[in-house]
Amino acid sequence: MGKSYRIAVIPGDGTGPEVVAEARKALDAAAGVCDVKLDYTEFNWGGDYYKSTGVVLPDDAADKLKTFDAILLGAIGHPDVKPGILEKGLLLSLRFSLDHYINLRPVKLYPGVKTPLKDKGPEDIDFVVVRENTEGLYTGSGGNLKKGTPDEVAIQTSINTHLGVERCVRYAFDLCRRLDKTKTVTLCAKTNVLTYASDLWERVFHEVGKADYPDIKREYAHVDATCMWMVKNPEWFDVIVVDNMFGDIITDLGAIIQGGMGIAAGGNINPEGVSMFEPIGGSAPKYTGKNVINPMASIVAASMMMEHLGEHRMGKIIEEAVMWACVNKVKDLGAGKMGYSTSEVGDLVAEQVAGR
Ligand code: IPM
Ligand code: MN
Repeated sequence: MGKSYRIAVIPGDGTGPEVVAEARKALDAAAGVCDVKLDYTEFNWGGDYYKSTGVVLPDDAADKLKTFDAILLGAIGHPDVKPGILEKGLLLSLRFSLDHYINLRPVKLYPGVKTPLKDKGPEDIDFVVVRENTEGLYTGSGGNLKKGTPDEVAIQTSINTHLGVERCVRYAFDLCRRLDKTKTVTLCAKTNVLTYASDLWERVFHEVGKADYPDIKREYAHVDATCMWMVKNPEWFDVIVVDNMFGDIITDLGAIIQGGMGIAAGGNINPEGVSMFEPIGGSAPKYTGKNVINPMASIVAASMMMEHLGEHRMGKIIEEAVMWACVNKVKDLGAGKMGYSTSEVGDLVAEQVAGR
């Protein structure tokens, strides 16, 4: 018997449970092929749990999750819960308490998938965004003065620490070495305006790169220019390293050029701890329970999870099965346009995996 892994599953809200179910089919098929045992524990956290208990997450949630090998998350966001509560109380709270200091978001156009970029294909759109995931504008530091008056002051502070920046750029350089493509890491920031924060990023990027990664080429692009190049010349990118807020923004652009939210996946990574994998898209309440949502993003997240756990073959055969379905079966990656239902896409992928 091969290795065994304990996976925490948080299906979450809306279409989250539907897509996670399909990811589990692919995982189980790959586990069978690769002689690996997967042991799942589900947690019912999300909008409904909050509505019935009044708390978003129990106090011991992070401690419980720390005992697992990895976490698979569906989606968070409930139409009856005010925006921000679940996002902050669940998703961001877990990213912070589990110190997921990397948000890894591959931007890869699979063969057979339509991109809105004219004259660009899979050979052009294939890079990885390494987004810092625990600092910047996301720490919740700031406050109000004279709230609700015409004199109101609102301050939201971007926190950037040497430690946080350094561990993030090191992760990007290491990843770039492993990928072994053009061996280029591009720092995306805004040094012409953020003369404190981006300056720290720029100094640390070059210091660390020069000292420890002389084999990796260093490029720099302002965030606005990065958006332009991602559309005009995405083939220029290999690995992009970026702070939390800019990373959030450019990865939605990344998702759309790789075929949309139906396929874009990411990992919240703590290289020394337990990591959490999720589709980049939200809970899509209007499609809930209709069996029309595309489960591929969740399946790709599951593939990334196994890859991260060192089960490279499992990760690879799941990803290849998704690619196969994109080329041979699914007409369009949009919800309700696939030519198949959510569960049929899951079955197609799982059968393809099982045949390996
Ligand atoms: C993402 C999302 C989250 C973020 C939200 C839901 C808090 O947009 O994962 O990209 O801003 O990080
Ligand atoms: Mn986002």
